[in-house]
Amino acid sequence: MKSPSPTTLPHAFRDAIEKRFPGARFDEPLSKHTTFKIGGPADVYVEPRTTAELTDAVRLADDHGVAITIIGGGSNLLILDSGVRGMILRLKGEFEEIAARPGSLLDSGAGVKLPKLIAWAGERGLGGSESLVGVPGTLGGSLIMNAGTREGEIGDLVREVRVLDRGALRVDVLSPRDLRFSYRASNLDGRLVVGALIELKAGKRDDIINRIREFQQSRLATQPVHTHNVGSTFKNPPGKFVGRLIEQAGLKGLRIGGARVSPVHANFVENLGRAKASDVLGIVESVRGKIRSEFGVELELEMRILGEP
Ligand code: EPU
Repeated sequence: MKSPSPTTLPHAFRDAIEKRFPGARFDEPLSKHTTFKIGGPADVYVEPRTTAELTDAVRLADDHGVAITIIGGGSNLLILDSGVRGMILRLKGEFEEIAARPGSLLDSGAGVKLPKLIAWAGERGLGGSESLVGVPGTLGGSLIMNAGTREGEIGDLVREVRVLDRGALRVDVLSPRDLRFSYRASNLDGRLVVGALIELKAGKRDDIINRIREFQQSRLATQPVHTHNVGSTFKNPPGKFVGRLIEQAGLKGLRIGGARVSPVHANFVENLGRAKASDVLGIVESVRGKIRSEFGVELELEMRILGEP
């Protein structure tokens, strides 16, 4: 049985998508696609598996004036309760492939999860990215955010990024001189990242695997890894640790609806089971207000918000 036609999608677009992507899902709950397990529906959700499929999805959306958003692992995203209008894309298939290239280079699709990429590299004696093993997102999302830890950021390792040019519908290759990375930001925001060339360092397999394990263990000890969360809520303000400030303000364990400030790491918000996006936003506003009044510090969000307010 067909699901009812969403009102916001043009009928001709809906028909064309159903024909080209038989697996497309209409009114797809995005809570299924975020680590927070929060988020209202997407008008339509498509998983392109090849560059040709991605190009067709983008062309159809642009021809019909439908908005497109690519989501990665959904591990840094708060999707609002009213969901996202237009088409959500998640890159699968060839975008989840990794290949070794001469000179300690890895060619990876944007849909590869970072922990997989790092383990894959480690098995082949390629290191230098171990500290990023705790970042659960995809390579594409990590590049856009310049995901990182105190030991390093993904932007430091990038030798080339491939993006789909939406106007020309062709893949362009960006070199380091085209790219700007800063603390949790890049000039790839808003671009359709499809893959990248990552430069690692040759080393001893066992040493690299051990370092990966150490980073995993330290994360297990300091972060609420086994809860539904999206990692850091706020960026660290210059020269300060936001987790420490929130703890000092006495906000660990603060609960609004089904969401709470993690008792393990104060810069994490946990979904206790039935949290709404509005519960998380309530926590964000309470924490911001208290940190402003106690310390005179204005907090900036690290997690991304997607959807119609
Ligand atoms: N701290 C507290 N109370 C807390 C949490 C932390 O006092 O509840 C203190 C810690 O004791 C430590 C300091 O704050 O002295 C910093 O904490 P931590 O080492 O956990 O690092 P962070 O700055 O909070 C950053 C990244 C994390 C990354 C870790 C490990 C940001 C916003 N966060 O956290 O990234 O995993 O370093 O390198 O930069 C993410 O981006 O989603 C993420 C989790």
